[in-house]
Amino acid sequence: MKLWQGRFAAPMAQDADDFNQSLPFDKKLYRADVTASIAHATMLGKCGILTAEESEKIVTGLNAVLSDIESGALAMEQAEDIHSFVEGELVKRIGDAGKKLHTARSRNDQVATDMRLYVRESCDKAIDLLKALIMVLCERARESNSYIMPGFTHLRKAQPINCAQYFNAYSEMFLRDLDRFSALRKRMNVLPLGSAALAGTSYPVDRDYTASLLGFDEVSQNSLDAVSDRDFVAEYLFNASLVMAHLSRLCEDTILYTSEEFGYWNIPDEYSTGSSIMPQKKNPDLPELVRGKTGRVYGHLMGILTTIKGLPLAYNKDLQEDKESFFDTETTLFSCVSIYTALLEKITLNVNTMYESAGEGYSTATDVADYLAKRGVPFRDAHAITGRLVRYCIENRKTLPNLTLEEYRAQSDVFESDVLNAVTTRASAEGRNSAGGSSKAATKAALASIRRRLKKY
Ligand code: ARG
Repeated sequence: MKLWQGRFAAPMAQDADDFNQSLPFDKKLYRADVTASIAHATMLGKCGILTAEESEKIVTGLNAVLSDIESGALAMEQAEDIHSFVEGELVKRIGDAGKKLHTARSRNDQVATDMRLYVRESCDKAIDLLKALIMVLCERARESNSYIMPGFTHLRKAQPINCAQYFNAYSEMFLRDLDRFSALRKRMNVLPLGSAALAGTSYPVDRDYTASLLGFDEVSQNSLDAVSDRDFVAEYLFNASLVMAHLSRLCEDTILYTSEEFGYWNIPDEYSTGSSIMPQKKNPDLPELVRGKTGRVYGHLMGILTTIKGLPLAYNKDLQEDKESFFDTETTLFSCVSIYTALLEKITLNVNTMYESAGEGYSTATDVADYLAKRGVPFRDAHAITGRLVRYCIENRKTLPNLTLEEYRAQSDVFESDVLNAVTTRASAEGRNSAGGSSKAATKAALASIRRRLKKY
């Protein structure tokens, strides 16, 4: 039986009913729905809209419904949506008092409230998972502060870097992501309930009281907006998309760095997969899957943006489409962050391979140019002189650290014997001691800063 059957002479056709149903997916909202209804009924009692006895009966009944759902004794089925299900079950149990629960309320402000409660909790979970990931990144940075690896631009060796700086870079990205979830949580913590269908309610409700019962910081200021706003869902999907973008980059690095061609890192057997035909293969399926799932999270973001863009004010049923994409995003996000956190803890580093690789590809050429510039040669000239030295190296199969002082001086008499100290990979990384740079001291300070900022959440 529908909540709205009275106006209709015939029941809904089966196919129409199936198409309209959201219970199969919005049942995930059961706890939020019951919690919001308990707060609503408590407020109705306090304001004298329902008697104290009616209000108490409803609250007791709703608590019983909740515990039966949680124990598995009550299956959520055969209702249009979770709101109809909970109300129907309540009426079955307590009769007429249950029919009064929906006073001064509509499913429009109800679902908006349920979603806010659910998404708010999901922000908290996202924050916790990101914290755990950043803590592992910090630990990896701490232990690798004396390791050197190649830094890349255009996926070509660019300059040697401190390995800790590499891990810190991802910590910075995930810290911004974490902060975005925290900001969203604050911004969305506003109660829609009391907006009713769209125009507010004529009952003497106390919305602030309901808000305080549900932990909302304030009540919405426009009922038309409150019932039709899903900005917070779109923002969540955007925040999740950025986490996935960052994670996907980290996974791409992981796939490259663990390949035979790079050989910088190893994925342990427990987190690798094999091939059904090629016995020798050890494949990085997990980071590939994370990279792949990024596309589907982006898809959900485009979906919600498109869903809301043409909606006339106020509520429209299109808004029911916020749920599956949100739930799938949440599940995908949580599983990806968790699996990568576990993987990162177990990855081992081939310190020597990284170090040797960092010295290849004339990666200290900038240091040669800087050497000249610091001795008065204009940087543009220094760049050209060094470029000629690199060409000389390429043509004669030599490297910058292996050239003799005479070979250096053939290009410029500014070079002295100390140039040979300036072109080692370690000196190169250590020399970049600007704030946020690659020297040991700079990366150590950056790590301390990350840990300090992380504590705020
Ligand atoms: N299942 C609906 C949704 O998710 C609940 C609100 C229904 N409201 C309505 N006016 N039909 O949006």
